[in-house]
Amino acid sequence: MLTFIDLVFWILILMSLTHEELIQGKIIQNVVNKSIIKTIKVETDEIIDCYDIYRQPSLSHPLLCNHTIQMAPSSHPKGMKSDNFGTYQLTQTWHNYGICPEGTIPIRRKVKNYDPTLSRKHIPLKFSPYKTNVTSQDDVDRGHGHEYTTIEVGGNFLGAQAKINLWQPVTEIYDEMSTSQIWVKAGPDTIETGWQVSRKLHGDDYTRFFISWTNDGYKSSGCYDLICDGFVHISSIIGLGCNFTEVSTFNGSQKDATFSIHKDQSRGHWWVQLQGIFVGYYPSILFTELSKRATRVIWGGEITNWKSKGRHTSTQMGSGHFPSEGGLETSSYFNWVQVVNENFMAKDPENIVIQVTNPDCYGLKIDDDKYGTNGYGFYYGGPGYNDKCQ
Ligand SMILES: *[C@@H]1O[C@H](CO)[C@@H](O)[C@H](O)[C@H]1NC(C)=O
Ligand SMILES: *[C@@H]1O[C@H](CO)[C@@H](O)[C@H](O)[C@H]1NC(C)=O
Ligand SMILES: *[C@@H]1O[C@H](CO)[C@@H](O)[C@H](O)[C@H]1NC(C)=O
Ligand SMILES: *[C@@H]1O[C@H](CO)[C@@H](O)[C@H](O)[C@H]1NC(C)=O
Ligand SMILES: *[C@@H]1O[C@H](CO)[C@@H](O)[C@H](O)[C@H]1NC(C)=O
Repeated sequence: MLTFIDLVFWILILMSLTHEELIQGKIIQNVVNKSIIKTIKVETDEIIDCYDIYRQPSLSHPLLCNHTIQMAPSSHPKGMKSDNFGTYQLTQTWHNYGICPEGTIPIRRKVKNYDPTLSRKHIPLKFSPYKTNVTSQDDVDRGHGHEYTTIEVGGNFLGAQAKINLWQPVTEIYDEMSTSQIWVKAGPDTIETGWQVSRKLHGDDYTRFFISWTNDGYKSSGCYDLICDGFVHISSIIGLGCNFTEVSTFNGSQKDATFSIHKDQSRGHWWVQLQGIFVGYYPSILFTELSKRATRVIWGGEITNWKSKGRHTSTQMGSGHFPSEGGLETSSYFNWVQVVNENFMAKDPENIVIQVTNPDCYGLKIDDDKYGTNGYGFYYGGPGYNDKCQ
């Protein structure tokens, strides 16, 4: 005979087991592809699938049918500030709900009403200093509605990095976005990484890690994260499109993360790192120009302004505050900005060109004061719509 106490005891055990199952990610789908080893449920809407690294979707890209996965880059740029991994030990929120086993990679499941054409709508810089020399589509149909505050360098490069302040800018409407990122470019080829808020892409307005690529000037190739095949994912820890556990607060604690992109010296792949962790790489074979080297590197913020209310959007860039309102804890920053030169040495950027497409809405200020302690850097961002920005 079960006593009441026994009964309560067993009910408690059962409850904890079901709970454990949910959070440790029991199989949720009925039909699970063999390439998915484990599934982790994160709160209500988010699901992370741990894929067998050798059966990851990107390997079905036609150019990668004979691809041999490179598990780690063969070399590291000299002089890269690799010990500089930000002001806190970065984690992504889903880590609290389970881990992907070794030999698997975390892939965030696509949100319900995800729009695949979105990946093609990302149009780059409006006023490029190199526009007369570039024939690619991206510079031809220069993006109306995209606004930037960036610094840019031209030359021959094998990589770039920066430590970027993490914020959660407000976006006015569903299909406007706000990013803070690095662009590495050559001709029609571009690789991007940084953080972004995009309700249309992610279904919510959290600050998320992203990567992106194109090899035809954003015409028809490439995409964000793993929305299309191409990027070979290696890390079992960092998920693309996943949010950070913490972001900065105004006049409060500041969070940042180091993002970097560099070209491997033996295989030529473009590796992406977050906080020193090798996330994965874009195989060299995907590109024509970038298979040799990059010729432009750009750092900074970008927003889209669709003027849905007949005036400038109030979508924020960075912290939503101008650099003129104050530096640290007020406006957003990039620091430890570096390029990797042709000799595979990390260097401060030289002969930079500043791009501010609409200074009444968003600004940029080079940070000369802290050069010694934080490397080369700048403050950027703004609120969008205001008295001067209509
Ligand atoms: C299952 O994985 C294989 C390759 O590993 C792929 O060809 C197939 O389309 C996948 N099926 C589903 C339903 O995802
Ligand atoms: C893959 O290998 C086969 C056989 O060697 C070859 O015919 C094919 O062209 C290769 N494909 C690519 C994309 O390299
Ligand atoms: C672009 O072309 C002009 C002449 O057409 C040349 O003077 C300039 O150096 C070129 N810029 C780059 C970055 O190649
Ligand atoms: C990250 O996402 C989770 C939901 O998955 C949310 O509860 C949390 O507040 C987010 N964190 C930040 C810093 O936005
Ligand atoms: C910033 O924080 C300090 C200390 O917490 C407080 O005294 C001050 O009023 C705050 N300033 C603003 C502009 O919120």
